[in-house]
Amino acid sequence: MTEGELKVIQRELRATLQRGVAGDITEFGCYVGTTSVILAEELAGQQPVRTLYLYDSFSGLPEKTREDISPAGEQFVAGELHASRQELERNIRPWRGKVPLRIHKGWFNEIPAHKLPQQIAFAFLDGDYYLSILDPLELIWSRLQPGACIIVDDYTNEALPGAAQAVHEWARRYALQVRSEQSLAIFYKPE
Ligand SMILES: C[S@@+](CC[C@H](N)C(=O)[O-])C[C@H]1O[C@@H](n2cnc3c(N)ncnc32)[C@H](O)[C@@H]1O
Repeated sequence: MTEGELKVIQRELRATLQRGVAGDITEFGCYVGTTSVILAEELAGQQPVRTLYLYDSFSGLPEKTREDISPAGEQFVAGELHASRQELERNIRPWRGKVPLRIHKGWFNEIPAHKLPQQIAFAFLDGDYYLSILDPLELIWSRLQPGACIIVDDYTNEALPGAAQAVHEWARRYALQVRSEQSLAIFYKPE
């Protein structure tokens, strides 16, 4: 995650809150919490209070599917990008007590419905792979509120082609306009 991408995410979250979109904030693929900390910083002191939901296997990446195969991305293998829950907890600790936090360990396609917020205003999807983007979209789409912002990382990363393919398929299914900034795809839940 570059400084520039973090600034885009921060700006989009701020704009979402200013538009008064209802709901909580989610990140799917939080690793050690670089972006989670930025999201928490933005949420601290906000009214209404919003809970930050962070999801990760804390076992690293799953197996690729064929959509993820790229000669440029051979370094990404199952178990890569493994962070422990303790590492995330350590990095996010300064925000405990300032922002309500829920951390869930597990594969995205096994998240039980009761571990998801009822209403979602903002979702950052950073699972790198095709199914690691599509699974959270399937899970949260009905909970995303009108005008909610969805940001997907690695949209322009040729080492991780599954992320762009997942976005393209989702955008086609729901006739969404997708904007690209740096390596991010940005789109909104239709009003
Ligand atoms: C690129 S890292 C996330 C980086 C993080 N957003 C940041 O800003 O530092 C990708 C993370 O997604 C997690 N991940 C990928 N696919 C997953 C899946 N299907 N279920 C659960 N976690 C997954 C990995 O464990 C890894 O921690």
